Amino acid sequence: MKRGYSESPSSSSHGPPQSKFKHNPEGDTHFLEDESTKIFARKVADHYSARTNQTLEEREASPIIHLKKLNNWIKSVLIQLYAKRGDAVLDLACGKGGDLIKWDKAKIGYYVGIDIADGSIEDCRTRYNGEADHHQRRKKFSFPARLMCGDCFEVRLDRVLADDAPFDVCSCQFAMHYSWSTEARARRALANVSALLRPGGIFIGTMPDANVIIKKLREAEGLAFGNSVYWIRFDEEFSEKKFKSSNPFGIKYKFHLEDAVDCPEWIVPFHVFKALAEEYDFELVFVKNNHVFVEEYMKKPEFVELMRRLGALGDGNQDQSTLSPDEWEVAYLYLAFVLRKRGQPDQTRRNPRRDKGKMHLTKDDIENVNGAV
Ligand SMILES: C[S@@+](CC[C@H](N)C(=O)[O-])C[C@H]1O[C@@H](n2cnc3c(N)ncnc32)[C@H](O)[C@@H]1O
Repeated sequence: MKRGYSESPSSSSHGPPQSKFKHNPEGDTHFLEDESTKIFARKVADHYSARTNQTLEEREASPIIHLKKLNNWIKSVLIQLYAKRGDAVLDLACGKGGDLIKWDKAKIGYYVGIDIADGSIEDCRTRYNGEADHHQRRKKFSFPARLMCGDCFEVRLDRVLADDAPFDVCSCQFAMHYSWSTEARARRALANVSALLRPGGIFIGTMPDANVIIKKLREAEGLAFGNSVYWIRFDEEFSEKKFKSSNPFGIKYKFHLEDAVDCPEWIVPFHVFKALAEEYDFELVFVKNNHVFVEEYMKKPEFVELMRRLGALGDGNQDQSTLSPDEWEVAYLYLAFVLRKRGQPDQTRRNPRRDKGKMHLTKDDIENVNGAV
């Protein structure tokens, strides 16, 4: 088996996928977790769990409010491009349900959200019930939902969600990089999505752009860089600023983003992500750095209008505040991707998945799936 990775497109041959990576000694079906991996996953979960829902006033006062609005615009564009009326959606690392309204606008038919942070999934539940946004009590969401608390990159979601599958769309926004601490977790993440999507189904997401982060690291004097709203710091073990292509997992750094993130994250070399995804039956539709994404989709009038409504770039009035250069630099740290599961959709298949969802969720409805490995 070849060690290291190749940047050439995958072969179009059929048959079982040949891994381009060094495998776990146990083989990729075992997906072993060691203690330190679990500790880091818990650190990430505790960080997000501790972040409470903000009031509208707190949100508007955030030093990165325009970046948050820009990120919402990027996610909305992805959802509008790829979700269709009636779709069954799997939202991996759904957080506090910040995308629920976007899915509602796309008129989806069913929603399953999973997150490792119990505090976030509880916020997601109250938001789904229409109890969270005190300032603007909204009408009920039009799709049934099911919410789960668990580690999407460890748990066998294909088993947990066997009766709900297949999904039409899977979304993993600003979270896929938390799977890249080990090869086993990265594989579990992709295996889960692949097993649950229908043939032809779409996997959309956003995550840090490794090329940009590594370039900035190499340009920095030491092992840290940033601006007034973020910093990234690598450990001494990376003092040479070189990364072995034979081991593209577990490249950890500390990420701090004002009013949003403060936890360990992992570099995801995109060509490795793409190659691994191909092993799990995905083909790349596109990948774009978020700067390019904004440039391209701001050429489309419907998305310009959406940007105006969200207010990330101001509303066109001169005195309207807008995205700061430091926030724009943070946008450059991320990319958006779209993958398609190979194969043709089976038009005849129907499944009873919507029966699993509810239109109002109690605390007891949140399922803890962490034991299901
Ligand atoms: C930056 S937030 C994004 C939340 C949401 N997707 C959004 O765009 O608003 C990252 C989320 O990933 C979740 N997360 C991190 N590791 C996870 C894991 N192993 N399994 C499930 N969720 C995870 C965190 O709890 C957090 O809610």
